[in-house]
Amino acid sequence: MATTAILSALAQEQQGLIEQLHGARRVQRAGRDYWQGHLRGQSVVLALSRIGKVAAATTTTTLIEAFAVQRVVFTGVAGGLGDDVHVGDLVVATGFVQHDMDASPLFPRFEIPLYGRAGFGCDADLSALLAEACRISLASPRVDVPVRAPRLHQGLIASGDQFVSTARSAALIRSALRGAGMEPLALEMEGAAVAQVCHDYGIPFAAVRTISDRSDEDSPTDFQHFVTHVASQHARAIIGQLMHLLPGA
Ligand code: ADE
Repeated sequence: MATTAILSALAQEQQGLIEQLHGARRVQRAGRDYWQGHLRGQSVVLALSRIGKVAAATTTTTLIEAFAVQRVVFTGVAGGLGDDVHVGDLVVATGFVQHDMDASPLFPRFEIPLYGRAGFGCDADLSALLAEACRISLASPRVDVPVRAPRLHQGLIASGDQFVSTARSAALIRSALRGAGMEPLALEMEGAAVAQVCHDYGIPFAAVRTISDRSDEDSPTDFQHFVTHVASQHARAIIGQLMHLLPGA
C-alpha cells in the first residue's frame, strides 16, 4: 500500500491527527519528529513542515528520502487574498508560486532560476480527492466557524517567508503577481517549497489551506484564535474523509 505523507504547518493542526493514529511510532530525523502509523487503514507518516520555505523543504525531502512516501498532502492555514475568500473558507491549491522570488534582472520576477517557470501545479487527481474530502467535511460541519457558511475555493496559492499583516503589503503582493498574470487566492509560508521538492522527485502533491485571517492588520489576532480553536478540527475532519477516498481504502 502506498504511504501518504501528511504535512501540517503547526502543532495545533497536527495534534488531532496524532490522536487518531493506529500503531503510532515516532522517528526523529534532522531535529524533527515523524509519526508513522495507520489512519483509517491507510499507511501514513505525519510531520510538521515547520514554518517557512526552507524548513518545509527539509521536512519534505526527508519524507521522500527517508520514509519513501509516495504522495504528499498538506493541511494548514493561510491568509485570504482573493476578494471572495473569507475567514473559515477552504482553498484547495491548483498550484503554488513564491511571491518573494525575485532574481531580476537575471530572470523575470517570480521565475525560479533554472526551472524556466514561476510556479508548480499540484497533482490533479490527488487534488480532486482532497477537494471532495473538503466538500464532504463542509456538508457535515463539526467545526464551529462563526459568521457565515464556509466555502470551498480552488486556485493559486502564493508562498513567501513573511507573515503578511498589513492590507498594504497584501495589496502589493497581489498586484505584483497580477502584473505577471497570476491571481492568488491565499498567502502562506510553505506550500511553494513543498510543491517544488515534490516536482523534483516526481511525487504527487495536494494542499488545502483554511483561511485564518485576511492578511491585514487583524491577522495576528485572527490567526492565533483560529489556530487554537479551529485548525485542528478542520485538519482532522478533512484528512479523515480523504483517507476513505484514497486508493486502497
Ligand atoms: N498563514 C496564515 N495567515 C498568514 C498570513 N497572513 N501571512 C502569511 N502566512 C499566513
